[in-house]
Amino acid sequence: MPAERCQALLASGTNAFRLGSGPGGWVERLGEDVLISHKGEAALAELLAGMTDRGGAPGWSPARIFTRYLPRKNAERVPPVLHHGDPALPSKFVVAESGVRYEIDLAAGYSHGLFLDQRLNRAKLRALKPRRVLNTFAYTCSFSVVAALAGAETVSIDLSRKSLDRGLHNLRLNGVDPAKHRFLADDALEVLPRLDAAGERFDAIILDPPTFSRGANGRRWQVEEHFEDLLGAALELALPHGSILLSTNCKALDPAVLERRARACAKSRRRSATYLHPAPPEDFPPGHGSSAIWMLLR
Ligand SMILES: C[S@@+](CC[C@H](N)C(=O)[O-])C[C@H]1O[C@@H](n2cnc3c(N)ncnc32)[C@H](O)[C@@H]1O
Repeated sequence: MPAERCQALLASGTNAFRLGSGPGGWVERLGEDVLISHKGEAALAELLAGMTDRGGAPGWSPARIFTRYLPRKNAERVPPVLHHGDPALPSKFVVAESGVRYEIDLAAGYSHGLFLDQRLNRAKLRALKPRRVLNTFAYTCSFSVVAALAGAETVSIDLSRKSLDRGLHNLRLNGVDPAKHRFLADDALEVLPRLDAAGERFDAIILDPPTFSRGANGRRWQVEEHFEDLLGAALELALPHGSILLSTNCKALDPAVLERRARACAKSRRRSATYLHPAPPEDFPPGHGSSAIWMLLR
């Protein structure tokens, strides 16, 4: 990222963004630290060598540099390791995006707590000023945080209670009273029909599932296979004129495929929508970051 673009992001209250991306990995600025995600030692050496022009601000150098290996298999994923800097500094710290605060934890596991490629989708959700938001596959609930700051009630669903607890912490970090916010540690595909049976309705729904997972009950989730089950259940809960974000890292589901499948699913449920293809954030070149489309229901 050119230094002036980094400066513009910093001036807008954002200190977590990508500094650079390449075939061998990428470099993220996380507050005062840097995380380099790499595909191997040669790629790491190259990304480290590029660090001098990836400071993110003239005269800035990171307090610490962490590195994280990007394995081919999910089972081989390990947390980042400290490459340079004071090992006594905490693994948990707070970053900001448009002034909204999120806790990063570099010791929590492979992922640190905030998916930076969703920055513009978080901004879009906040701008929609929704009243009731359903955040499925919520992870650390960043979408719930921006919705709450826009005045919405939220329901966040994730298999991981630990991730939802981090979401509650993120709400509190931003001065949000958790009273209007629910956290359901369960399988999204099982919860959605229950919410429908209870008559719950939402004017914004976030669907950002992993490519593959296995629930506590052994139930297998595979995004390509279960996409229509998920979107169909979400459509039952969506109010007229509501919005649905569909987002995935699955390479087979590019935005054109997402739209085609979403259109067919909506048609089968007698719903119609306008489809928006948001531009990715400027720090994510083509091929990096998730595929995402917004369905604006009629
Ligand atoms: C890609 S992350 C979601 C990122 C999140 N939307 C964000 O922007 O921070 C995937 C999340 O889905 C959760 N998950 C996986 N399978 C699930 C399921 N069947 N039901 C609910 N949550 C699930 C994981 O625990 C993980 O937190």
